[in-house]
Amino acid sequence: MTLGKLQRPQTLLLVNIAQLLTLRSNAAGPRRGKELQQLGIVEQGSVLCVGGKIVSVGPTKDALRDPWIRKNRRNIVEIDCAGKVVLPGFVDSHTHPAFVGPRLVDFEKRIEGASYQQIAAAGGGIRSSLEEVRQATKSELIAKILNALRDMAAHGSTTVEAKSGYGLTVESEMRSLEAIREAADLWPGTVVPTLLGAHVVPKEFEGCSQKYVETVCSEMVPRAARRKLAQFVDVFCDKGAFTPRETEQIFEAARTHGLSLRAHMGQLSETALGPFLRLHPASFDHLDHVSDADVSQLAQHETVATLVPGANYFLGLKEYPNARRLIDAGVAVALATDYNPGTSPTVSMAMAMSLACTQMKMSPAEAISAATINGAWALRLAERKGSIEPGKDADSAVFAVKDYREIPYWFGANLCAITVLNGAIASSN
Ligand code: NIG
Ligand code: FE
Repeated sequence: MTLGKLQRPQTLLLVNIAQLLTLRSNAAGPRRGKELQQLGIVEQGSVLCVGGKIVSVGPTKDALRDPWIRKNRRNIVEIDCAGKVVLPGFVDSHTHPAFVGPRLVDFEKRIEGASYQQIAAAGGGIRSSLEEVRQATKSELIAKILNALRDMAAHGSTTVEAKSGYGLTVESEMRSLEAIREAADLWPGTVVPTLLGAHVVPKEFEGCSQKYVETVCSEMVPRAARRKLAQFVDVFCDKGAFTPRETEQIFEAARTHGLSLRAHMGQLSETALGPFLRLHPASFDHLDHVSDADVSQLAQHETVATLVPGANYFLGLKEYPNARRLIDAGVAVALATDYNPGTSPTVSMAMAMSLACTQMKMSPAEAISAATINGAWALRLAERKGSIEPGKDADSAVFAVKDYREIPYWFGANLCAITVLNGAIASSN
């Protein structure tokens, strides 16, 4: 499915919705425990959007009786959602779209039995994507990113976090962030840019990672902040990437420059999270490896645990993050694609949800909350995103299924028929 039409915000009325998942709640923070099960379903529902905002939500019969709607009906674009499910647009809170090509050699090597670390040590992995990005012009990067964003919208995502991280020189990281911004300007959805200068230590700095960390702290972070090119700073804190001490340094620099924090944590090995929690990161992502003590601590914080099962799937791992243990302990869990060329080349939040259900034993309802409202919390956008409530941004996805459980059930298929991004419609027909 490609996006056939992109329009400006319109006055939109979605009617006859078989199941409208509003995700409304009075919760003051991200969803935890049983709250993840509550989808706020309205049957035979309707949603009115004006000027890119949701204005009213309720039963279709009430909407059709509403005097304002009756008076203005001729100027309203009405979408009949009979037999369909409507939910908040997915908030994909972890993606790496600023790359050029796929990594097919790594793909084959892994099939033959090489591990992520072995591939990286042999010159594959993240480092092997750098040259192409350093050589790419900004327009080439914009085209790649915009393609990915359009594809994501076609799969129901309306808000996307987008990281740099495949240039790893001051100049190419800034160019990646500029390309993210320019692609975002051409896309009707919402993009949250993140500087991931600390993705891996590039070859030129091999054996002197501290020097590279200083470049990140004293050049990349200040420039990205000054030019408002990033809202977050991310660090890949793990074996073969950055140490906890280096991560703390980068986090301190980010805070000094007013940028918020998120990190790849516990993907390959365990790192103690306690010392970082005092810096209030918005999210820790992956968390395949996390101690009981840290799970209890996380449950006391607003820091979201963002699980990205697409990476486990694509790396052919037998183990997945232990979502049940996190949810049952009261940790706020989100789901994201981790779209990237090395570990998770998918734009499909429905696929991430399907993996969450089958491999991590999350219920379909939990997966939907994790892919919408908790993703919004992970990006500190919950006031505007993640649920269908009056006053929020007009972001929603219309799925050609009767029951929301079908979204993760029909894995590998894209059943998203229409996406509404800030009141603009993107559809294939
Ligand atoms: O989230 N772990 C670090 N970053 C990515 C992998 C990026 C890559 O391999 O290109 C991840 O899995
Ligand atoms: Fe990632």
